Amino acid sequence: MELRVNDTIHQVDVEPDMPLLWVLRDELGITGPKYGCGIAQCGACTVHVDGMAVRACQMPVSEAAGSDIVTIEGLGTPDSLHAVQEAWIEHQVAQCGYCQSGQIMQAASFLDLHPEPTDEDIDRAMSANLCRCGTYPRIRAAIHAAAGKLRSA
Ligand code: FES
Ligand code: FES
Repeated sequence: MELRVNDTIHQVDVEPDMPLLWVLRDELGITGPKYGCGIAQCGACTVHVDGMAVRACQMPVSEAAGSDIVTIEGLGTPDSLHAVQEAWIEHQVAQCGYCQSGQIMQAASFLDLHPEPTDEDIDRAMSANLCRCGTYPRIRAAIHAAAGKLRSA
C-alpha cells in the first residue's frame, strides 16, 4: 500500500484495517502523533488527512491511502514554523507535552476554516482534545494569536 505522509511517498506492507496511528508510529517511525485512548476520545493522535483533522487511532490505514497525510513533523519546519507552532512557543502552551501535537494539529485545521474565531468557537472546536495538564487557557490564547498571524500573513 502506498501512503503519502509529509510529502514523502512510503510503501507499507500492512493489513488494510490497521489503524493509521500504528502505521505512522510503528512502521514509519513518525512518533509525533501520540497514543492516548485508542478510541477517538482524547485527540492525542490527531493528524491531517487532506487538510482535515482526524483521529489516526480510529482510521483504518486503507482509508488514508491516496490522501495527503500530514503529521506534526510536516506541519512546519524548524526554519519555517506554522503560525500555530509559533504561537504555541510564544505562549509556552505545553506542560508535559503529551497531548500537544494533537492539539496543534486540531488547531491548525480549525483555523483553516475559521480565520476569526471567538472564544466559544475555539472551545467548541478543541473540546474533544483533552489535556490532563489543563493547558486550556494557554491553548485558547495561542489560537487567537495564531489566527492573528495567519490573517496578517
Ligand atoms: S488516541 Fe486517538 S483519540 Fe485518543
Ligand atoms: S500538556 Fe500534559 S496532557 Fe496536555
